Amino acid sequence: NNTFSGESLRQKLIVLDEIGSTNDYLKSKLSNFKPLPEWTAIMAKNQTMGRGQRQNSWKSEPNSNITFSFVIYPNHLSLQQHFTLNMLVSLGIIDWLMSLHIDSTIKWPNDIMIGNKKISGILIENISNSKEIRQSIIGIGVNVNQKQFSEEFSNRASSILNETGIFIEDLESECLNLLTFIAKRVESHKKNILTDKDLLTEYNNNLFRRDIPAFYSSGNISFEATLVKVDGNGQLYLRTKEEVKTYYFKEVVFQMQ
Ligand code: BTN
Repeated sequence: NNTFSGESLRQKLIVLDEIGSTNDYLKSKLSNFKPLPEWTAIMAKNQTMGRGQRQNSWKSEPNSNITFSFVIYPNHLSLQQHFTLNMLVSLGIIDWLMSLHIDSTIKWPNDIMIGNKKISGILIENISNSKEIRQSIIGIGVNVNQKQFSEEFSNRASSILNETGIFIEDLESECLNLLTFIAKRVESHKKNILTDKDLLTEYNNNLFRRDIPAFYSSGNISFEATLVKVDGNGQLYLRTKEEVKTYYFKEVVFQMQ
């Protein structure tokens, strides 16, 4: 069956010149009576109100980058497995970059890095009932050809072009390739070809700053620690001189300098 070949996904990819946020656009379509087909995807050449994690905005130069969102119905996952989606999507982005011969790492919980610079961010918004995730809107921004970054971001954000010299001419077909890599991950997990255990191992093997001492902050406290691993619930394990402590999303951040 070729359900997840690039060709069938191409028919589900809608490209818009300009929109506020592709996540918001898809969400507004979900509330309609008729559900959207799984893998319906919206790419925007320009996003005027792109959103990031923690109420941040996602700024992206028009016609230079990939900004898109898609919908999936992950009914094979329980509520407790919400981090699984995050791992599948992150590894799908890593696979896609590998296909372009670009090495990258996953900075827990939502960033993709080339070297020390963030080039991509993931925003997953789930609609769940008390038992399961019913619908998931997954938004991805990748800085591709953007050259200039504002002073505020230039020491931590960059683009594929700036970090590797690779210029991507056809953003739409690269967006489709990226979506295809993610779909392969999700579908092989759904069919149990990719087990939870292998997924977690692969995720951990691709982590940014794993086993490397670095500075972190939690609340007002800054401390040195070594990233040991991330577990299947998405908890981060950091080893300090005294102990190994675990952190959920938003309880700790990497210090980049
Ligand atoms: C982050 O790094 O904080 C997540 C950024 C996610 C940005 C993407 S761009 C496409 C989609 N639409 C949005 O409004 N946000 C996501």
